[in-house]
Amino acid sequence: MKKRIYITRRLPEEAVAPLREQFDVRMWDLEGESVPRDVLLEEVASVHALWTMLSDTIDEEVFERATELEVISNLAVGYNNIDLQAARERGIIVTNTPDVLTETTADLTFGLMMMTARRLGEAERDLRAGEWKSWLPMGYVGMDVHQATLGIIGMGRIGEAVARRARGFDMNVLYHNRTRRHESESMFGFVYSDLDGLLEKSDFVVLLAPLTEETRGMIGAEQLAKMKKTAILINVARGEMVDEQALYEALKENRIWAAGLDVFAKEPIDLNHPLLTLPNVTTLPHIGSASIQTRLAMMAMNREAIANVLEGREPKNRVT
Ligand code: NAP
Ligand code: GLV
Ligand code: GLV
Repeated sequence: MKKRIYITRRLPEEAVAPLREQFDVRMWDLEGESVPRDVLLEEVASVHALWTMLSDTIDEEVFERATELEVISNLAVGYNNIDLQAARERGIIVTNTPDVLTETTADLTFGLMMMTARRLGEAERDLRAGEWKSWLPMGYVGMDVHQATLGIIGMGRIGEAVARRARGFDMNVLYHNRTRRHESESMFGFVYSDLDGLLEKSDFVVLLAPLTEETRGMIGAEQLAKMKKTAILINVARGEMVDEQALYEALKENRIWAAGLDVFAKEPIDLNHPLLTLPNVTTLPHIGSASIQTRLAMMAMNREAIANVLEGREPKNRVT
């Protein structure tokens, strides 16, 4: 009998088709919608592999029903949506999609820095709304990106790809990690800083660490108060790393200059969220890795990991 795979979101058929010969593949098929919780709980009871999205919470309740499950492959590099401890206890392999999305996500991060510093979203919205009456000497003036100080919290694969782009803009690069990266310090001139020093000196504070118990809420009122009045916070990591209420207050009172956010504590963000009332916030719907090439490469990675595990081979990119 063929082993069974459940995919929690509609994926392009070209990404799924290679699995169909050897496996019995089912997919949540409603375009634009996450799998309902009750459907996920029902499906997981009978499958050997789950192909999940970062929007699926794979917790104890799911694992309790997962009696046949061998592998969970997450269409993301981040895997904070999966309870790894519960997976380990049951010997279930979890895999993610590192590397293939690094450059694409770095492009988006740099784009969000440019967009926020130069107020591109605000300017474009105004033009479409008929607000462009004449060229304004001090209209839409923003902050320069070139030669500014970039502070990266979480200097890993994506952080370093952003930092390499910053060299082309003559930026000074500071970074903060738990461990130093001596090689990139000597090769590229990136400078290690403790967290407070980075917050105090940076014109751009960019979050690119994973969401963990350590990083949850790491940017709150106290950290925002250390930032320059002209500084910009960019979050491309996970929304829960930032205290959104504290960020709202800092932005509203102009204690920092602006924020660019690709991620939110709750996704999709509520349309009545106070952050969306502020002109100095640029918001994107979690599109860091969203290029055609990269999304297909991520799917290929998940597909191979699932096939490898179900056929008894060691998968690449296991996180458990
Ligand atoms: P990575 O290579 O693992 O880099 C993460 C870095 O964060 C590591 O260098 C790690 O260094 C550092 N870090 C971990 N804990 C830390 C802490 N407590 N304080 C400071 N630094 C810490 O991961 P990546 O591939 O670059 O991806 C990073 C994250 O970006 C992912 O986990 C994901 O959540 C997010 N992401 C978002 C999008 C999007 O669409 N918006 C796309 C891709 C990824 P140390 O271990 O030395 O501390
Ligand atoms: C996206 O947020 C990812 O973690 O890949
Ligand atoms: C702007 O368009 C300029 O010519 O300075």
